[in-house]
Amino acid sequence: MSDTTLMQLKENHSLKPYNTLGVEAKAEQFISIGTVDQLVQVLTDPNFRDIDKCVLGGGSNVLFRDDVKGLVLHISIKGIHKVREDKNHVWVRSGAGVIWHDLVLHCVERGWGGIENLSLIPGTVGAAPIQNIGAYGAELKDVFESLEAVETETGEVRTFTYDECRFGYRDSIFKNELKGKYIITHCTLRLSRHPEVNTSYGAIQARLEERGVTDPTIRDISETVIDIRRSKLPDPDALGNAGSFFKNPVVSKEKYDQLKRRYPEIPGYPLEGPVVKVPAGWLIEETGWKGKVVGNAGTYHNQALVIVNHGGATGTEILQLAEKVKTAVHERFGIELEPEVNIIP
Ligand code: EPU
Repeated sequence: MSDTTLMQLKENHSLKPYNTLGVEAKAEQFISIGTVDQLVQVLTDPNFRDIDKCVLGGGSNVLFRDDVKGLVLHISIKGIHKVREDKNHVWVRSGAGVIWHDLVLHCVERGWGGIENLSLIPGTVGAAPIQNIGAYGAELKDVFESLEAVETETGEVRTFTYDECRFGYRDSIFKNELKGKYIITHCTLRLSRHPEVNTSYGAIQARLEERGVTDPTIRDISETVIDIRRSKLPDPDALGNAGSFFKNPVVSKEKYDQLKRRYPEIPGYPLEGPVVKVPAGWLIEETGWKGKVVGNAGTYHNQALVIVNHGGATGTEILQLAEKVKTAVHERFGIELEPEVNIIP
């Protein structure tokens, strides 16, 4: 039996269970992909050649504006394996369809350090490099070794090194030049066997102190991050959301200094060069938009940067709310917020 016979093509398939915002949208065609062979077969099948394709992982960073025309490929390639080790490191290769947090737990349990600060980030391993996921002082790129991907157009399998991925803040080549051109199937990370914990993020330090932990292990860090995230970010199973809806904007030092004179409280994190990253959550809260509800959508009461679906919100309704927030921030601060979630189509 060939691999494709195990795949089932579904038509007019609801995507509601496949996006954490819980928006109703239908895929014209939908296939769940479990292996690289299956993916290559679909991509090289003449029947699907000229059809638009949309790739879906955990659906935790997408907003479906509308129904999706063409073929939705749901990537569910599983498996976590240690592929190499030396005195100091282990290399772990994971399928793109593995839940990111399951990979974190797998590594934390074995004492392999490097991704504990990224605990509980929703989504799958395959989506992680696309936006170089980051939280609490760490980023995927810090432990990234390589990834394997299939070229959408040809079905050819290729490996990308760290340099080739061109990681940036919530950014990589897969959001730019190669957008839509490759489908990630596996990701290999280099983790430390003698981890040094990263407590640079203020909230982690504070929470560890509260718990009386003085010499934290990676497990302590993971538990602390889980704790902080649960207290600030809504659980998508209880309240639809896609984490941060906007990116934290980066402004010139000059612009920041101007704002600081007017708003002495404004937080800012200087980056390399004369630029400063400003927390969008603060800007939104300052405009009075934190915790507001419009129809079925709103901003989260504990974190203004998170847009939530209070039940039954459509993609359009959520986008309209996002536009209102964006306009309010622009009017007050002259800063243009950009979405962090992918808006489809
Ligand atoms: N703030 C407010 N009001 C708010 C929210 C935030 O004033 O309603 C201010 C506070 O000053 C706070 C600062 O913003 O100190 C930063 O807030 P937070 O620590 O919650 O982090 P963030 O910058 O809003 C980023 C990531 C999150 C990640 C956290 C923790 C982006 C777009 N978001 O949020 O990532 O979990 O840091 O590291 O960079 C995601 O990408 O989906 C995501 C949740």
